[in-house]
Amino acid sequence: MNIPEKLPVHVTFIMDGNGRWARERGMERVRGHLEGVSSVRAVMEACVEWGIKYASFYAFSEENWSRPEQEVGYLMELMMKSLKGEYSTFMDNDVRLLVLGNRARLSRPLNAAIDYLVGATKDNKGLTMILFLSYSGQWDISQAALRMAAEGGKDISKYLVTAGIPDPDLLVRTSGEKRISNYMLWQTAYTEFVFTDTLWPDFRKEEFAAALREYASRDRRFGKVK
Ligand code: IPE
Ligand code: IPE
Ligand code: MG
Repeated sequence: MNIPEKLPVHVTFIMDGNGRWARERGMERVRGHLEGVSSVRAVMEACVEWGIKYASFYAFSEENWSRPEQEVGYLMELMMKSLKGEYSTFMDNDVRLLVLGNRARLSRPLNAAIDYLVGATKDNKGLTMILFLSYSGQWDISQAALRMAAEGGKDISKYLVTAGIPDPDLLVRTSGEKRISNYMLWQTAYTEFVFTDTLWPDFRKEEFAAALREYASRDRRFGKVK
């Protein structure tokens, strides 16, 4: 596979199009979520193989809580099963797991499973894999502002849930939608965006490599003159 030399330190994904992928095949929407887990695994393995240090995934937004109860329930169950099932993959590949978002809204068993996996992988030194769960960028900025004010701090980035994690260099959104949908609003100030029509369940190594080539061709100036 043709992988460029200039790779992002942090690549992030808005995994979109699972429902449409399933509907196109005459299946229930949730079948698309299940297939989407295989895409997460494929992308994670590629990051390990290509030496990318941070990969993050928008798995469930604060707004997604307003979906039908049955779909929300399925997604939470799927999250729990997939996380538990990946334990040995994380350990074998030196992957550190982080889960960021409004954890108070997650169920007790899901929080317990997350705590266990995050704890077990905390000293792994390879890829840092981040799941954004019950996350929204506006929620993140408000919780950060409140804590910063209480402590009399000055640097908001130290209070965001992403404190200590480099801002994303590349954001990939699948399924043809060209919007940020309340994702990392502060952290994407200078992120490069790649939009692809591919639906998330079809997004695998080849599509990821194409997004990386597109990223490598961009000229990042950060407001300066080159
Ligand atoms: C992305 O796929 C998964 C989540 C947002 C949880 P969607 O479920 O949004 O799929 P579409 O956009 O309806 O096709
Ligand atoms: C964004 O997808 C959220 C996640 C991928 C978790 P949505 O499908 O929820 O976004 P909108 O509604 O199309 O903006
Ligand atoms: Mg969607």
